[in-house]
Amino acid sequence: MKLDVLLGLQWGDEGKGKAVDYLTPKYDVIARFQGGPNAGHSLEFNQIKHVLHTIPSGIFHPDKINIISNGVVLDPIIFRQEIEGLKQLGVDFRNLYISNRAHLILPTHRLMDAASEKAKERGGKTKIGSTLKGIGPTYRDKTGRYGLRVADIFAPDFEDRYKELRNKHVAEVLKVLDRSMLPDKKEEKKWMEAVDYLRQFQTIDSEYAINDYLQSGKSVLAEGAQGTMLDIDFGSYPFVTSSNTVCAGACTGLGVAPSKIGKVYGIVKAYCTRVGNGPFPTELFDETGETLRRQGGEFGATTGRPRRCGWLDIPALKYSVMINGVTDIILTKADVLSGFDAIKACTAYKINGEITGHIPCDVTTPIEPVYTEFRGWMQDLSKASKYEELPDALKRYIEFIEESTGVPCSIISVGPDREATLVK
Ligand code: GDP
Ligand code: IMO
Ligand code: MG
Repeated sequence: MKLDVLLGLQWGDEGKGKAVDYLTPKYDVIARFQGGPNAGHSLEFNQIKHVLHTIPSGIFHPDKINIISNGVVLDPIIFRQEIEGLKQLGVDFRNLYISNRAHLILPTHRLMDAASEKAKERGGKTKIGSTLKGIGPTYRDKTGRYGLRVADIFAPDFEDRYKELRNKHVAEVLKVLDRSMLPDKKEEKKWMEAVDYLRQFQTIDSEYAINDYLQSGKSVLAEGAQGTMLDIDFGSYPFVTSSNTVCAGACTGLGVAPSKIGKVYGIVKAYCTRVGNGPFPTELFDETGETLRRQGGEFGATTGRPRRCGWLDIPALKYSVMINGVTDIILTKADVLSGFDAIKACTAYKINGEITGHIPCDVTTPIEPVYTEFRGWMQDLSKASKYEELPDALKRYIEFIEESTGVPCSIISVGPDREATLVK
């Protein structure tokens, strides 16, 4: 069997949680391949909305295997909160597995995130707008070869290892923050208790498990977090997250060879949003942007921050399709565009007077979007149950996306609920 991958093609929050939950019945295994609790993946069914941060979005299907893979960074405190919340809803964790190789987020990693943002601010630089969950510092320790991994929690000298890393962090953080901001004993105790809680779960060498599943004919879906424009290599650096959010990240984040990749589902919101700082060529600062935010409920699932909103960006989308080898587009939130007289999409950039489709490497490059305008539609899409029932104007917009990217839009989402999904 091949490994299918599902990932965001924009700046995150495209609707990955909903899409994974929708596709889960077709798969035996769902595996998160990167990121950490900076992610907020929402899914909705039976009129209840759930937001997942670390747990894969297949967890509401008890017969499916869910894996938190080696590419993920895990905060034991957030993991415990998430599990306890879901347990109250009767969710079953017998089929949840955690990679021994996943890295741990310490309380001091979160503090280092805050220190790093503060240092930028003091130096007159623009902050990243991080979720402050300790993601960057944890991945930095991973590549710096200092990190603690899930397997370490079973070592007899785990507490010593923890203290060694913590003390290193404290020395670094104190260069920027004052002592009063250091994690107190209570927070550290809570973390240690959460580590104890984590010890009850099934930890495995998930690269073996996933390859064995594929070998034995089981189907596996890799769930990405964030989006391609936030990728550490290909996003708008430095306004990015610290992992490879792209398809190649599924290979390293799971331990699966590139030759085993099957379908690549790219999730695209019908317009664009971004949280945090960094370039956003099609951002709208007017009433239209406000309307998108209001109609789309565009507030962060993890931090509650208002999301910046703008029109669809085709050069960015084509770039993402190229980097990821997308085979299928899942278009979400088409319903949010209902009621607009006209809809715009950016088809090219004007940079220094020249028209281009090239994403500049330098994030300070001034970009003027070149727009194409489409007729809008007024129909409420929430009742649509078949692609054929969609308004012609929306069908034309979908065809435009397909022609621009060369990829079919095989699934159209017209509402947050699992049921509000149409197959083309
Ligand atoms: P993710 O991080 O990619 O999983 O996306 P988020 O959950 O952060 O943000 C997507 C938001 O849009 C959530 O509130 C979803 O419930 C909601 N959503 C997903 N698909 C649709 C859709 O097709 N229409 C509408 N109106 N909302 C959607
Ligand atoms: P999901 O999986 C949207 C953004 C942050 C910030 C930058 C770096 O829900 O789509 P970090 O916490 O990683 O240091 O933040 O990346 N960011 C996200 N934006 N959705 C996400 O995840 C995000 N995860 C991080 O806002 O700009
Ligand atoms: Mg999200």
